Amino acid sequence: MSILVFGNGWIGNKFIERYPEARMSTVFAKSPADIEQVLEAEDPDVVLNCAGIIGRPNVDWCETHQIETAVGNTMLPIMLAEACAARGIHFTHLGSGCIFYGDSPKPGGWLESDYPNPVAYYSKTKAAADFVLGSLPNVAVVRLRVPMDSVPSPKNTITKLMSYPKVIDVSNSVTVIDDLLDVFYKVMEKRATGIFHAVNPEPLKYRDLVKWYEEIVDPNHKNEWISEDELVTQGIAAKKRSTNILANTRLPEIGIHMRPTEEAVKDVLRAYAEKLKVTGAK
Ligand SMILES: NC(=O)c1ccc[n+]([C@@H]2O[C@H](COP(=O)([O-])OP(=O)(O)OC[C@H]3O[C@@H](n4cnc5c(N)ncnc54)[C@H](OP(=O)(O)O)[C@@H]3O)[C@@H](O)[C@H]2O)c1
Repeated sequence: MSILVFGNGWIGNKFIERYPEARMSTVFAKSPADIEQVLEAEDPDVVLNCAGIIGRPNVDWCETHQIETAVGNTMLPIMLAEACAARGIHFTHLGSGCIFYGDSPKPGGWLESDYPNPVAYYSKTKAAADFVLGSLPNVAVVRLRVPMDSVPSPKNTITKLMSYPKVIDVSNSVTVIDDLLDVFYKVMEKRATGIFHAVNPEPLKYRDLVKWYEEIVDPNHKNEWISEDELVTQGIAAKKRSTNILANTRLPEIGIHMRPTEEAVKDVLRAYAEKLKVTGAK
């Protein structure tokens, strides 16, 4: 399978590290013509879109840079889907579970088919892309939530949460990146279509994550706990963050399984501790 990746960033490069036979497009695509040129030159069987605008230093940036955010998160994936359809190429787009806020309408978490209720502008642009792409015949939308990775990095939720003096006391669905990379490959291999929630099956209580981090990585770690509302009322974030539970129902239907959350997260923490030892950070 000849795979072309758009999005020379954190997740795109994780995919290339795992599957070095895949190729990375380094073109910053601004128009259908830019995309056409890349597809003509690379002639892939499948395209994986890890490009997007996530905001720097964080997602609050998107509130004040709305057009750039909409172009990268809504227009670009539509242009890619159109160009891929014209050439008979399967297209997998990286969506986000942060288009859902709060409790799902039915117990068990938000379904892939549920209607999103985004609040932050970033979330609105991700939801808008999913509305358009979700029913196209050559497209899979793979939504991830709260990425957990074994390599310390400012993008890694483990690194982020453990650096905060105050952590929100919530449960969230999470995505272990190792498992996500497998999901991408299998979805492309199967040429699957529609929307998929690529989250490990059980929600993760941040209190459990911190407990396991203290057991496995750093017994001296300390933090305070705050509520979701206090994050905004205490001025720590401009907009409420999406906290939610996603149901992962469609991947198992097509024979793709992610590991139980506790097993996968503890595995990540053990590898994370090893990497910290190697870099001398601990
Ligand atoms: N990381 C997360 O926590 C998370 C969670 C849920 C969903 N996602 C989704 O996953 C995707 C990748 O996230 P990430 O964390 O890997 O972000 P990232 O490190 O910022 O990577 C995104 C890459 O896309 C590039 N890009 C933006 N517009 C482009 C365009 N028009 N043409 C080509 N490349 C373009 C960016 O280039 P510049 O750096 O030059 O802008 C950047 O290199 C995004 O769609 C995001 O919404 C991420």
